Amino acid sequence: MTRTLLQWTGRLLAAVLVLVLIAAGVVYAASERKLRQTYDAAVDSLHVPNDAASVARGEHLARNVINCTLCHGEDLGGAVYSSDPAIGTVAGPNLTRGKGGIGADYRDMDFVRAIRRGVRRDGRSLIVMPSEVFTHLSQEDLGAVIAFLKQAAPVDRAVPKSGFGPVGRALLAAGKMNILVAGKTPHITPPASVAVDTTAAYGKYIADIAGCHGCHGYGLSGGRVAGPPGLPPASNLTPAGIGSWTEVDLTRALREGKRPDGSQLNEFMPWKVFRGMTDAEVHAIWLYLRSVPGKPFGNK
Ligand code: HEC
Ligand code: HEC
Repeated sequence: MTRTLLQWTGRLLAAVLVLVLIAAGVVYAASERKLRQTYDAAVDSLHVPNDAASVARGEHLARNVINCTLCHGEDLGGAVYSSDPAIGTVAGPNLTRGKGGIGADYRDMDFVRAIRRGVRRDGRSLIVMPSEVFTHLSQEDLGAVIAFLKQAAPVDRAVPKSGFGPVGRALLAAGKMNILVAGKTPHITPPASVAVDTTAAYGKYIADIAGCHGCHGYGLSGGRVAGPPGLPPASNLTPAGIGSWTEVDLTRALREGKRPDGSQLNEFMPWKVFRGMTDAEVHAIWLYLRSVPGKPFGNK
């Protein structure tokens, strides 16, 4: 190779490097702008009780119906939910009053804004936390959940911060990864309380707060769900999908993660959480699923 050719190759490489750095800078700036955006977090004021019955109700919901412990750990001391150097880390923070936890600084209304609106204390959005599901909680049930969080034994644990890797930032900047929770969680006026019951209407409430609609669609007819590659689509839960199932079959799916033919459901379907649901809750869900119109798969 002649000297000039070498020089040109060198210049070309330098130019490519500069372009890559500029592109990385643009992606970083665009993703950073999204992450730094602050949100209005209007919520209705809420009374947090501290009696034993409310704490027990809150614990049952948090562990067996609405999944808090799946991402924040059985002891609420925080847990890494997923971690990938390219995409990023999703970790449920330590919610207790222990070292590394947020419990000591959070006031009741800070909890309400984080849980219902996906907004942290500094006004920025949380990532991944499914607040759009929790907006449906009645005021009374949310009060009970916060009562449970506040009495949790302090856990000293430093959990890694949730954040993005380079691919995650590029997807975020391009608008391909819609995981900034606050942007998709509008203020709705929640019901004051929903009495525990065994009706289709109560089943719909449980299906709302347990996220069944979030994954299976509002019409419950199933379809693709956002998540790791290779994930099966959420099934059609309308009579057109599981119309031949009995209540025993549904109970088995929710408690053991098994279909009537004995095949195993993917664990992304959180049956390990739902197996702690009461018989009355499963019955109410059963009545609700029976009551919805049949729809072809994927109609949402
Ligand atoms: C799918 C996983 C997931 C579930 C389920 C979940 N969270 Fe979270 N939560 C997160 C992640 C991830 C963050 C931190 C996001 C961040 O740092 O941007 C978070 C943040 C929070 C925060 C704010 C903490 C802070 O650092 O300011 C609170 C409060 C909270 N969650 C409470 C709850 C409660 C209560 C429930 C159940 C009703 C719940 N979460 C269910 C994943 C989850
Ligand atoms: C995080 C997403 C998610 C949530 C929340 C969720 N599901 Fe699922 N569900 C799935 C996926 C994905 C499948 C398919 C699993 C498979 O094919 O292995 C599934 C499958 C099922 C099945 C099996 C149906 C069949 O034909 O095989 C039933 C029943 C079911 N879900 C009921 C529910 C109910 C009831 C709720 C709420 C209490 C719920 N699911 C909440 C994702 C979810």
